[in-house]
Amino acid sequence: MASLSVKGQVRLGVLVSGRGSNLQSIIDASHAGHIDAIVAIVISDVADAFALDRARTHNIEAAFVDPKLFEAREGFDAAIIDLLRKRDVDLVCLAGFMRLLSPLLVREYRNRIMNIHPALLPAFPGLHVQRKALKHGVKFSGCTVHFVDEETDTGPIIIQAVVPVLEDDTDESLSARILTYEHQIYPKAIQLFAEGRLEVRGRRVFCHGMPASEQDEKRNWGVINP
Ligand code: GRF
Repeated sequence: MASLSVKGQVRLGVLVSGRGSNLQSIIDASHAGHIDAIVAIVISDVADAFALDRARTHNIEAAFVDPKLFEAREGFDAAIIDLLRKRDVDLVCLAGFMRLLSPLLVREYRNRIMNIHPALLPAFPGLHVQRKALKHGVKFSGCTVHFVDEETDTGPIIIQAVVPVLEDDTDESLSARILTYEHQIYPKAIQLFAEGRLEVRGRRVFCHGMPASEQDEKRNWGVINP
């Protein structure tokens, strides 16, 4: 399969439900010229999501789509697809978007939807991630940027960052440690996409255009050696 390249600046559609700190890191990276991408539209399923305010502050179109207006997920997703198409979005970024996507949306943007998850997938998918990690007693956790497929948090992994889990960690302290790395790896994954370096083969993502040793290094951005 050919790499997932896009000519010119990548147009992002960012889907959010909450505070939007990952959205902010993407906007900041775009403004700083660290990614060859612009946020074309931010869409939320929550009317008063702070992420929408962040978008407006930067004069980015902020749209609320009310899930209550639709009987089924497909209807909601069709409305999202319509907005994304009209804004010529190349890559959809889920950034704290708390709704499951229907196959309709996944099919429309196959290998063009990324998600950030605050754990080292495939460990601890879904919700209450830090609680699960602490309860399980893992010594390391982290975050994962992956392409989205039809299941929850199962798609091909693009980048991960690792952080240690400390004895006295709480949900909050572990979340905060992981979040700083989320803000680094999401823009990097977007830039790899923008450079046309990513290729999905089966459930693996290959990163083209750099030597193997550098590739390993790049893949492990953010790894902390304890
Ligand atoms: C992040 O921890 C992300 O990994 C998860 O939801 C949270 C969203 O945070 N999917 P924010 O809204 O980007 O601040």
